[in-house]
Amino acid sequence: MEEPRRLVFCATPLICLLLLPLLYTVFFRSNAVPFDQWKQQLSPWSGYGNTREVGEAVEDQQELNSVLRRLVRGDDRIQLDATGLACHSDLHTDVCVSNRPVRIDLRTMTVYAPHSFSESMPKANRIVRPYARKEDKTAMDLVSPVQILQGNITLPACHHTHYVPAIIFSSGGFIGNLFHEFNEIIIPLFITSHHFRSRLSFIITDFRPWFVRRYSQILAHLSHYETINPAVNGTVHCFPGAVVGLHYHDNLALNTTAIPGGYSMSDFRQQFLREAYNLKRQNLTETERPVLILISRSKTRMFLNEDDMVRMMEELGFRVVITLPHRMSNFSKFAKELNSCSVLVGAHGAGLTNALFLPPGAVLLQVVPLGLDWASTHYFGRPASEMGLQYVEYKIEPEESSLLELYGREHPVITNPASLFLKGYKVARAVYIDRQNLNINLTRFRETLVQALRLLGHSATMA
Ligand SMILES: *[C@@H]1O[C@H](CO)[C@@H](O)[C@H](O)[C@H]1NC(C)=O
Ligand SMILES: *[C@@H]1O[C@H](CO)[C@@H](O)[C@H](O)[C@H]1NC(C)=O
Ligand SMILES: *[C@@H]1O[C@H](CO)[C@@H](O)[C@H](O)[C@H]1NC(C)=O
Ligand SMILES: *[C@@H]1O[C@H](CO)[C@@H](O)[C@H](O)[C@H]1NC(C)=O
Ligand SMILES: *[C@@H]1O[C@H](CO)[C@@H](O)[C@H](O)[C@H]1NC(C)=O
Ligand SMILES: *[C@@H]1O[C@H](CO)[C@@H](O)[C@H](O)[C@H]1NC(C)=O
Repeated sequence: MEEPRRLVFCATPLICLLLLPLLYTVFFRSNAVPFDQWKQQLSPWSGYGNTREVGEAVEDQQELNSVLRRLVRGDDRIQLDATGLACHSDLHTDVCVSNRPVRIDLRTMTVYAPHSFSESMPKANRIVRPYARKEDKTAMDLVSPVQILQGNITLPACHHTHYVPAIIFSSGGFIGNLFHEFNEIIIPLFITSHHFRSRLSFIITDFRPWFVRRYSQILAHLSHYETINPAVNGTVHCFPGAVVGLHYHDNLALNTTAIPGGYSMSDFRQQFLREAYNLKRQNLTETERPVLILISRSKTRMFLNEDDMVRMMEELGFRVVITLPHRMSNFSKFAKELNSCSVLVGAHGAGLTNALFLPPGAVLLQVVPLGLDWASTHYFGRPASEMGLQYVEYKIEPEESSLLELYGREHPVITNPASLFLKGYKVARAVYIDRQNLNINLTRFRETLVQALRLLGHSATMA
């Protein structure tokens, strides 16, 4: 490239030294930047930029490298070390990591990740949809692709240079549903980004302002830098490293051993959420009158005799708080209420995700409608134990389901739900999820509530 000119300028060592920073600026701000300049781009991770000592910058770079490296394992890590880019891939998600400087064109969502070892390497091209439900086509159709280019490529010029790495994820997919928001975005985001100690920027594709507002405390706690919306900020941004996509472990789950030095559900709940929402530690055995929060659904899986249920709960000694599922999604408001709640009661549904905010030892009481045993266990029952909560289930009888009247006692909908699921999830969903309401048998339900009280170490006042 500009070698001859540089030689002239560098006629004497002193002039050369003085001019280097200038040359650096000129060449780096010029248009399409040639490949070998990647080697020279200093990228102190600290955010203090040039004011820091070179030694510190090198340490920062090493530390940055180590937090990025831990996101890939085995052969992927070997590839990362060799080429500067590697992707972890499993049933649920793709996570691509670059531990060298990247340029991201936000207009086209293209990540330019050239590597500096074998420059003759041909162009490589990958497409990642950064949302952790890869196995679900319906969800992934709602997620925009991110293209990653590597190899001998022409680089666009940087409009903005960042000193912290970027994590790219989508707020598309199944957002609008609390379970999916935590399951596919918030928990995976925590798993992937917490160890950066807030020194990173989020680039959120399929950007929804309300989503970013709803989770503002969480996002602010995970990143001290501005969140970037590609639709508004359509320029080329340069980062010292990048991650495209989020790690995923299981339904509302964190697997401590899946990533070296990984986090547990208790790290997420007791430490992270508590700090993000400024919640006090609660000791439930000290509460005199346990608080029961009842999730009152208004479309499907409604409690048809809710008033009677509430009366009975109060007779048992609970202070009952009735809430609508959508009201609960303002966490800054609702988290404190959940944090002092002893029992959370609700029919199977996304509202039960609020159990994440219950204090340890609280009871999650899930009412399981007909046909939803599997989903109830996998989405909430098992995760509840991992959360350090006590879990009880109230499984309804056909007499308590509005489906009995609709279909009659002998219909497979009532006698054999599994046969409907064999016809496909959509068929089953239309019936059990969308068309079912519940008329709870108070005699039987009371026993389940007494059980919850016992688990809390209380005896029912009227029991
Ligand atoms: C890189 O690509 C350019 C243009 O596409 C080509 O002229 C050059 O020879 C390539 N360099 C290497 C090392 O392959
Ligand atoms: C949540 O509620 C608080 C307090 O009422 C309010 O100030 C805030 O704007 C609400 N947040 C959202 C995202 O609606
Ligand atoms: C784009 O991002 C840069 C750096 O993050 C910021 O300085 C600039 O104001 C943003 N532009 C818009 C239009 O948001
Ligand atoms: C956690 O991850 C490890 C390593 O990938 C795996 O062997 C183990 O089965 C996982 N544990 C659970 C409970 O999924
Ligand atoms: C909670 O309070 C009870 C009764 O005051 C006490 O015995 C127990 O040690 C406390 N537990 C914790 C974890 O502080
Ligand atoms: C309610 O449950 C009780 C106890 O299982 C049972 O004896 C009673 O028949 C049920 N009531 C109705 C209306 O089904």
